[in-house]
Amino acid sequence: MRARATAHADFVVGEIDPRLYGSFIEHLGRAVYSGIYEPGHETADENGFRGDVLDLVRELDVPVVRYPGGNFVSAYNWEDGIGPKEGRPVRLDLAWHTSESNEVGIHEFADWAEAAGTEMMLAVNLGSRGLDEARAFVEYVNHPGGTYWSDLRRENGREAPWGVKMWCLGNEMDGPWQIGQKTADEYGRIAFETAKALRAYDKSLELVVCGSSTPNMATYPEWEATVLDYTYDSVDFISLHMYFENHAGDLPEYLSLPAKLDDYIATVAGILKMTKAKKRSKRDVYISFDEWNVWYHSREQDRATLEGNEGWPFAPPLLEDIYDFADVLQVGAILNTFIRRSDVVKVGCLAQLVNVIAPIMTVKGGTAWRQTTFWPYYFASRYGRGTALNLAVDCPGYDSQTASDVPYLDLSAVVGEDGVLTVFCVNRHESEAVSLAMSLEGLSQSKVVMDKVIAGHELDATNGPDGGPVAPVDGNGAAVNDGRLTAELPPLSYRMIRLG
Ligand code: AHR
Repeated sequence: MRARATAHADFVVGEIDPRLYGSFIEHLGRAVYSGIYEPGHETADENGFRGDVLDLVRELDVPVVRYPGGNFVSAYNWEDGIGPKEGRPVRLDLAWHTSESNEVGIHEFADWAEAAGTEMMLAVNLGSRGLDEARAFVEYVNHPGGTYWSDLRRENGREAPWGVKMWCLGNEMDGPWQIGQKTADEYGRIAFETAKALRAYDKSLELVVCGSSTPNMATYPEWEATVLDYTYDSVDFISLHMYFENHAGDLPEYLSLPAKLDDYIATVAGILKMTKAKKRSKRDVYISFDEWNVWYHSREQDRATLEGNEGWPFAPPLLEDIYDFADVLQVGAILNTFIRRSDVVKVGCLAQLVNVIAPIMTVKGGTAWRQTTFWPYYFASRYGRGTALNLAVDCPGYDSQTASDVPYLDLSAVVGEDGVLTVFCVNRHESEAVSLAMSLEGLSQSKVVMDKVIAGHELDATNGPDGGPVAPVDGNGAAVNDGRLTAELPPLSYRMIRLG
């Protein structure tokens, strides 16, 4: 099958915010305990953080990590996680039916983020709590000193404020599963008042208001319109979430889901424009896609675990999806969608980072290893920064229940600050290779400087603690001649080609 594409230096989507490649750590399952934190582990540092996990996080070059939830945050008291560890209370976590020791709190997470070389993006509890705890938390984290909360932080060992910019006003407040779920009007009001209070402290904070938990919510997209009506001029981002499932084992259907993601982004972008016009506002509000991933492999097992729980276990394995080769293609196409919509999606968080629906897994007391989906995330994060190009693509497509004319070739391209043009390709076709011919207009890149491909695996091939087959290898045959990139993309393949 042939595919034609055109890239033009002047035809751009815009600058990609590096935070598009963020991630997420929640107090859930083994993300924190025996994930990032395992005192006594042979690689642990003086704070108890696993060095092998930190190495993999640094390898991914994660720019921002959302914390501490997720559903967990909606019944969380941030003050439980400060002060001497031995005095911290053990609490029931109502979101995941587990016990929380509070051994890790804001100080520990901040230390970890510093070691990982990442920014923090913090969420406040607008479920069981509200404005007052939120403003106290912001003061504790960001105020230099001389006030009750900032001096308490200093007493607790941290002299300088952390200066966290991004704050999420609650999590998935539309969801019936959320502690303290709200209607759009109830949430719009509290989010507006909380934003007002936080901005009264610091106008430069970047505030994220909750959008829909998934485009399948009955309240979507009315939720966005109502919530933004209250908050448009007080926030910087609206948060969207989406998880991708392949329940029916129908690969073409599964791989067409990014079309639904694209539609979700376009719809909310439209609501943002509509609200801006309605408010006669001069400012733009963007999308923070702060939870996205494949999530379905572990659902049955989790249901059994949660239903079978007699008590309230501490950090049990939960949401430990083991990803396969099919998920590489899906994650690659999702990331392509974000690059193509990076004009409006400024922040993205792969949910999550370690052990819980994550690219990095750990064995308690043992190794840390890379899932199959580590790789498309790695390539996008490492090489997908710069200016996203608006490509013209001509390629045959197929119809699924989700969408019509889903192109077999999913493509995105980014010009980096170093002038290298990086092209990310996913071939969704199960049996046919795609012969790509891409003309480069006004672009001077003339040779292939890197070519990585993941292809040729069984769809259910997975990696594990001892490694595994699903990893990139060098591609071959790609070439640039007379301003035209040509490459043969194998059936069901992920490929990144860099031109310098
Ligand atoms: O990431 C797992 C969970 O998915 C989060 O806690 C919640 O926000 C979402 O429903």
